[in-house]
Amino acid sequence: MFVIGLMSGTSVDGVDVAIVNIEGAPPDLQWSLLHFTTIPYEAEIRDFILEVMDPESGTVDRVCELHAKLGQVFAEAVLAGIAEANLRPEDVALIGSHGQTVWHAPEANPSATLQLGEAAYIVERTGIPVVSNFRSRDMAVGGQGAPLVAYVDVLLLTHETRVRAAQNIGGIANVTFLPPRSHRDLEPFAFDTGPGNALIDLAAERATDGAWRYDRDGMLAAAGQVDEEFLNELLAHPYFRRYPPKSTGRETFGREFFDYVWHRARARGLTKVDVVSTLTAFTARSIAHAYRDFLPVFPEEIIVSGGGAYNPVLMDMLRDLLAPARVVASDDVGIPADAKEAVAFAILAYETWHGRPGNLPMATGARRRVILGQVTPASSPHPWTNDERQSSSMITP
Ligand SMILES: Nc1ncnc2c1ncn2[C@@H]1O[C@H](COP(=O)(O)OP(=O)(O)O)[C@@H](O)[C@H]1O
Ligand SMILES: [Mg+2]
Repeated sequence: MFVIGLMSGTSVDGVDVAIVNIEGAPPDLQWSLLHFTTIPYEAEIRDFILEVMDPESGTVDRVCELHAKLGQVFAEAVLAGIAEANLRPEDVALIGSHGQTVWHAPEANPSATLQLGEAAYIVERTGIPVVSNFRSRDMAVGGQGAPLVAYVDVLLLTHETRVRAAQNIGGIANVTFLPPRSHRDLEPFAFDTGPGNALIDLAAERATDGAWRYDRDGMLAAAGQVDEEFLNELLAHPYFRRYPPKSTGRETFGREFFDYVWHRARARGLTKVDVVSTLTAFTARSIAHAYRDFLPVFPEEIIVSGGGAYNPVLMDMLRDLLAPARVVASDDVGIPADAKEAVAFAILAYETWHGRPGNLPMATGARRRVILGQVTPASSPHPWTNDERQSSSMITP
């Protein structure tokens, strides 16, 4: 089954499109990546998203408009990906669309999260059924709604004998602890370690007066110095002391936090590049501390995915802090680092389509396993919808 995974993370850099061929069922699920592309957000859309993420400017009319607009943007991204892969929409059976998170409040009562990108527009434009809104169902059974990728990490990255950690560094960073198959008394679990690239991106943008959107190849961080004392002050943030399960977002480590850091750092006499270095160390150090504080066994191998894997300064800091563990980009184990999350949402959609749960209670804190998301069926005749309706009694869209 050809499934497209669509991911647009907290970095708000663009829409990741993974076209994945998936067969079988866990634990013997087979997959291969047919094509991967990132369609960068146009500046106008990116600004619109950042506007809606801000509770001051994200008024209900703007939220509503962005929901529809992103549905259209995602639909075009799907068609672009399909064309690049020399496929036709009829070749693709299903889309798993994560959507753009604009608010994530796992600690609210009731817990709540909002991913935008109206699936109706995607289905109407592509003719392909869509699974979307993955996180809410997990929250409805007491979970954090995150990290969901943990289910896929366990499936794809568990080693026979080695203790691994799968570390994703997107806008926010999250880890999945992966005990080896041979180790029966340890269980996999996952949580958000804290900031990923979001603060580094904001610092790079500020340091270059808006010329750069991120610290390309860690060049700014490499030119600056880490302020250890200020770094320790940042690491005293209460999020790092909380026990997992826990998840976070730009509500905590976003614009507001960054404005505070920038102001305070400049007052302490840090140069602009020093702020980028210190925030890069903040991400690396918060990850290392999280392992030390919360993982039952220190991993032997750390598999890094997400855009952070392409920042050599960040990767070197992680290698230093996590030695003697081996820190590798997920490309080295056969999963392109930038594609991993999109692949994960293709697999989660596939699981939902087949009526299987996709959350991992040990990761999200949910009371039980649940089938994730909502299905927006294609208008017939879509060849797959018809086949699937006859063969699968679990999901009747
Ligand atoms: N060559 C690179 N050098 C430094 N950072 C990079 C590089 N490539 C990507 N990144 C970082 O990765 C981020 C995008 O990561 P991504 O995994 O897409 O995050 P998200 O899932 O939050 O969208 C960029 O904003 C940037 O910070
Ligand atoms: Mg991204």
